[in-house]
Amino acid sequence: MIIYNKESGIITLSTKNTTYQMQVDKHKYLMHLYYGKKAAGDFGQLITGADRGFSGNPFDAGDERVYSLDQFPLEFPFRGSADFRTPAFVMQNPDGSKGCDLRFKEINISDKKYTLRGLPTSYANDGERISTVDISLADDVSGIEVHLLYGVFEDRDVITRAVRVCNKGKGEMKLLKVSSASFDMPFGDYDFITFHGRHAMERQFQRVPVEHGKYEIGSLRGASSHQYNPFVMLAEREAGEYAGDCIGIHFVYSGNFLAEAEKSQYGSTRVIMGLPDDMFSWSLKSGESFDAPEVLMAYSDKGFSELSNIFHEFIRENIERGYWKHRRRPVLINNWEATYFNFDKEKLISIAREASKFGVEMLVLDDGWFGKRESDTSGLGDWKVNTKKLGGTLGELSKEINDLGMKFGLWFEPEMISEDSDLFRAHPDWVIRIPDRDYSRSRFQLVLDFSRKEVVDYIFNEMTEVLDNANIAYIKWDMNRSLTDIYSKALSAECQGEMMHRFMLGTYDLLERLCTRYPEMLIEGCAGGGGRFDTGMLAYESQIWCSDNTDAIDRCLIQYGTSFGYPTITMGAHVSAVPNEQTGRVTPFETRGAVAMPGTFGYELDPNKLSEEDKRQIQEQIDTFIEDYEVSHFGRYYRLSDPFEKSEISAWMSVAKDKKKAIFTAVALSAHANDIPHFVKMRGLDPEACYTVKELQKEFTGASLMYGGLPLPYGREYRSVMYHLSCE
Ligand code: DGJ
Repeated sequence: MIIYNKESGIITLSTKNTTYQMQVDKHKYLMHLYYGKKAAGDFGQLITGADRGFSGNPFDAGDERVYSLDQFPLEFPFRGSADFRTPAFVMQNPDGSKGCDLRFKEINISDKKYTLRGLPTSYANDGERISTVDISLADDVSGIEVHLLYGVFEDRDVITRAVRVCNKGKGEMKLLKVSSASFDMPFGDYDFITFHGRHAMERQFQRVPVEHGKYEIGSLRGASSHQYNPFVMLAEREAGEYAGDCIGIHFVYSGNFLAEAEKSQYGSTRVIMGLPDDMFSWSLKSGESFDAPEVLMAYSDKGFSELSNIFHEFIRENIERGYWKHRRRPVLINNWEATYFNFDKEKLISIAREASKFGVEMLVLDDGWFGKRESDTSGLGDWKVNTKKLGGTLGELSKEINDLGMKFGLWFEPEMISEDSDLFRAHPDWVIRIPDRDYSRSRFQLVLDFSRKEVVDYIFNEMTEVLDNANIAYIKWDMNRSLTDIYSKALSAECQGEMMHRFMLGTYDLLERLCTRYPEMLIEGCAGGGGRFDTGMLAYESQIWCSDNTDAIDRCLIQYGTSFGYPTITMGAHVSAVPNEQTGRVTPFETRGAVAMPGTFGYELDPNKLSEEDKRQIQEQIDTFIEDYEVSHFGRYYRLSDPFEKSEISAWMSVAKDKKKAIFTAVALSAHANDIPHFVKMRGLDPEACYTVKELQKEFTGASLMYGGLPLPYGREYRSVMYHLSCE
């Protein structure tokens, strides 16, 4: 619900459990009053002013020296207002000055969710309660209007935000920073929680106090990146997994981003999320508008677990879309770690045939099926089937796989090009590079300039030529390098700052066109594993390969970090061979299955090389995965241990919405001789109910499992247990 009180200027956004409040003040500046637990009343008392040295006053505040934007909690701070904290918005006037004066102009409330041009956004399902508000702020001198768009998903407890900038003036303006969301907490001590990482070790939890100064994370790599994820949390110092106040912020975008947390001289905390100001500018001619990507925000007073579950539900229901949204994803076998580039038709068929015996439902043919692609040094961009290597057409191969009762999936890396490729020889000017300069190589590949429509059109045609001529149920969309040497031949010198965002728009355009043309095709995202794991991609890609690291023990850490912002249904996770390709670690087959099963499950090995016992386990794992799917992928998810803090175990569980079933998993990350016993307290059960734990053949009350806890079997390194709980 959204209420605007014209007299007081108070704008209140309410969801089931939260309140978000702003105020248009007497000078028509937009103040941020409150975001937190649902509360009646107004929060105007939180705006206090004093006559402060070096904090200037707006011209029309006259002699009112206590009125300074430098000390007030602001909703959308801009450069040029004498507020010296980090701005959310910076624009350059035709005379070169960087300043504006954004004052409230009007407010429009509606019950229709906004969309953004060329960008993914969340959406409301039929019958879902949604209200939106468009608050416009105008800079009278330039004619720039900034529309702050809010979507209030009442029952989901999520507030979305986005920004549209319109040039209603006569001159051409240059946007230098357009963040999508900003808010100020007037007082309090907070921690900023972010998820950093690197290739094959993504989304590691990090918590730092917000102290005086500024802490920021982001990406300038052209993808949201392995290094920092565009999901962050602001938490009260005392907040933890199951208690305390915290706010989560998702950026619905897959390219460059910037997330900032700043503590001001007067102790307030500002948080900003959006496009970065570095490597960005946008020229806005008279009559034009610019849409900045969407942000999702949620608040919990019950700690991180509650916040995660709010986002899990929202991503499943209001971000994911299309045919696969509620459908169980097929159990797949991917040939990458089994063969790398070294395969032929016989090899692929032998993998598929063996896997099909145990119930694997789809073969995914990874890199190396096209052009001259015998290694990673050549062929990208030449999406022509290598019929010699495949012993025929893709249509024939997919038919043979289908005849085994399996679906067929295929790997692409649409945005990339090898120097050694026919495409590069024909269109050397289609790559991203700075004229007359050497460019950086990365995995021997360059990046196509997707900011150019003709380049996107060409790749679309090449892909559809392949997809139209074989029965392809799935594509894996990879991206294996960062963007460097940023320059587009198609843009004028003044517009080069638009290149990175236009690249992303080109990628979304291609995804949108493919989703429309092949509505039942499942797309799995990938960027060297989890280098583009974000809610922007999840609007097109139903699942994302979580990491190139398939080691079950490392995966416990990666999936733990990922689970803060993303539901299990989005996480690509496979059982691979041992010793593990990335770590050399040998873990039991059972543990590899237990760790992969909560994700979108599959195998990444040659089943012909497995022992009979492992093969038997495949069958068992697939049966369990299918049987558990509803609970493990649509239930509530609970992190029961912090593997970063307590390195001996990793434990988690999923509980059905009606609490009648639950699945508990624990993995021994390390073990010691004569080890101390490890106990885990379960979560989310009905304390009164009596649960049978199938594997232990014992009964426990929910209360005893949650408040007392359960001992784990005596340690053996890398062992795991999976318990199925049920009650009448
Ligand atoms: C990186 C991916 O993450 C791998 O799974 C595999 O698809 C390779 N690229 C293929 O080049």
